[in-house]
Order: sequence, then structure tokens, then C-alpha cells
Amino acid sequence: MDIFSEIKPLRAFLDTKRDLHLSIGLVPTMGALHRGHLDLIRVSAQENDITVCSIYVNPTQFNNPSDLAKYPRTFEEDKEMLLSAGCNVIFAPLNTEMYKVPSNLRFDFGYLDKILEGEFRPGHFSGVALVVSKLFNIVKPTKAYFGQKDFQQYKVISKLAEELLFDLILSSVPIVREESGLAMSSRNKRLSESEKQDATVFYQSLLLAKQLLLSGESIEAVKIKSKQKCEAIPGVRLEYLELADTENLKPTQLVSGNAILLIAGYVGEVRLIDNLLIG
Ligand code: PAF
Repeated sequence: MDIFSEIKPLRAFLDTKRDLHLSIGLVPTMGALHRGHLDLIRVSAQENDITVCSIYVNPTQFNNPSDLAKYPRTFEEDKEMLLSAGCNVIFAPLNTEMYKVPSNLRFDFGYLDKILEGEFRPGHFSGVALVVSKLFNIVKPTKAYFGQKDFQQYKVISKLAEELLFDLILSSVPIVREESGLAMSSRNKRLSESEKQDATVFYQSLLLAKQLLLSGESIEAVKIKSKQKCEAIPGVRLEYLELADTENLKPTQLVSGNAILLIAGYVGEVRLIDNLLIG
């Protein structure tokens, strides 16, 4: 496995692979890897000749400085995991490499980045779009892989790729869960054992919400019940539970195969998200 921290040698290395007509899969991450990330690596390794995993905690997508400071960083463990999952290249740049000049570029995705995560984390998706554009430009992947847990992020990146004409295929890989149902997330590393147990309430709320909606309850009633269920646990706070159309993420009342339930909230200081497709 080759490890690069600078753009120029990585580009030169990947150019030699492209000259041999080898396909390149990119798995962008912020490190603190878990089984969900390894699934992305495995799928990429199956579908491409070369798999590149980027590990970069991107400051411009954090709207809360303490969240950025506390984001887990576990590079040595990440390296071992990537090697065993079949990754060929790690790209782990410093801030000075990714932001050689301070950036004033801002992305506006209209409605798509103002709702759900965008409402609670203003500027987040602009920062994601900025760093993902840079990564697409550096790696020029044949395919890029993202987790379904960040459903809204995937929608934003799809729009980005479409509008900026990035010549690549995007792929969304299903959520991987702990046995408890808790969706795998780097942020889980910040939870104590008891908080991890408490955090399962988000997935349980999604399951209950789906069941209630399918039995005819209104989304408004379901939201109230979800809030009660989550906040019955000390230290847990529900930020939102929404039923949205999978195409455009607009709120919907229609409990159909085109709907998705999305949830976000806090366990102690740690903010978590999850989702469940209705179909
Ligand atoms: O999903 C993530 O880990 C990040 O938002 C990403 C896509 C790597 C961009 O920093």
C-alpha cells in the first residue's frame, strides 16, 4: 500500500496507472475508520483496479470548532484496517496541502443544503462540496464511493458532480450497523459504552416511525412520539426526524417506496445521524 501526503506525487503515480488503462476507485473519508468504511473499500476494490482512500479531516465542513477539535484521529489503526481491506493507496494530506490559499469559494445548492443537516449545520455542505471537488480533481477517479448514512451528503455530491461535469460514477453503499442497530460512525468512538447503548434509540425510533407510518399514523404524530421516545433517555436530544422524498429530500406525507426517514440528535455532546429507506 502506498501512502501520499502531497498532491503532486499522488497525481504522477495515478497518471501512470491511468496510462495502463487501470480504473481508479476513490473512497473519501475523514479517518477514524470503521466497518462501514471498510465496506466502501471492499466494494471499490471489487469494482476497480486501484483503490484510493483519502483520510482528511476537512476543517471547512465543521461549523463547530469544538466538534472539529474532538473529531477522532486514529491514523495508525486506519492504516492497518485499509491494508487488510484491499486498499492500494492512502492520501492523507495536511491542511497546508489541501488549502494552499485560504478559500472564499462557497457552494449554494439551494433547497438541498438548507434543510435537515443544512439547517442545523450552516455552511457544512459548502465545505463538503469544496473538499470533494478538490479530491475529485486530484484523484480523477473512475468511481467514487460514499456511505448511505450520509444520505443528504450523497445528494449534494451527486448535484455537484452533475453540475461541474465531473467525469465519474458515484456509488452509495448501504449503512453498516452494530448488532445493537447503531449505525457505524466515526463519532461513535467518542461515546462511552452506556452512551452507545443510549444511541441505539435513534435506530429504534426510525423503526418505530416506519411501523407507525405504515399503520396510518401521520408524520406529525410520529414526530411527537419519536421526540418523547428519544428524550425519555437522559442526555439524549432529538434534533429532527423527517419523512422526505428520496429524489429531492422535500418533506412528504406519502409513505411510499420513494420515501426515507432521516433522524439526527445528540447523545451527550456527540451529534449522530441515521436514516431508513421506506421502500
Ligand atoms: O463523509 C465524510 O466522511 C466527509 O464528509 C467527506 C465526504 C470525506 C468529505 O470530507
